[in-house]
Amino acid sequence: MNMGKRANVAVFASGTGSNFDAIMSSPDRNFDVVRLVSDKPKAHVIGKAASFGIQTIVFNPSEYEDKVAYEEELLDQLKKARVEWIVLAGYMRVIGKTILDAYEGKIINIHPSLLPSFPGIDAIGQALEAGVKVSGVTIHYVDEGIDTGEIIAQEAVTVFPHDTRESFQRRIQQVEHKLYPQVLNKLTAE
Ligand code: GRF
Repeated sequence: MNMGKRANVAVFASGTGSNFDAIMSSPDRNFDVVRLVSDKPKAHVIGKAASFGIQTIVFNPSEYEDKVAYEEELLDQLKKARVEWIVLAGYMRVIGKTILDAYEGKIINIHPSLLPSFPGIDAIGQALEAGVKVSGVTIHYVDEGIDTGEIIAQEAVTVFPHDTRESFQRRIQQVEHKLYPQVLNKLTAE
């Protein structure tokens, strides 16, 4: 148990940032979000970070020679900010060896399906296309694969016959927004 000291977390996000919002707004959050990292200079989530007073690290991967180059620079900034945990929340890039090795067992992702079903992009569309009656949300450790790391928590979400993509996605997100802050509180306190 981590007595007293709050863990320092960086959230990585490329998109809307509804999970970032949920994490920041969680009333009983027991860790500090010290950086928002984004690979998309125009991402909506960057404005959200500003509204919460969170410093952002924004980079454009196309300006670097390769993944190693931008991850080395990023790693340097994470270390300077004393980041202990990396929380992916709609970050659309695969984490490379540079960061994986430096943060072994400390990188977490959320995925909108019951893994190992429907890994990769558009898990919600994949589930609806497959006609499953139950899908859900998975929180897992990140390894070198795509959505393959050890599972930490899962919650099922029923697909109703009348569901549209929007209505189903809304219920998936409601679960994400509740589950992610809960699981992160527990993990970072250990
Ligand atoms: C979430 O559905 C998450 O499971 C997936 O990307 C989405 C991010 O949504 N990895 P948001 O940007 O947090 O709204």
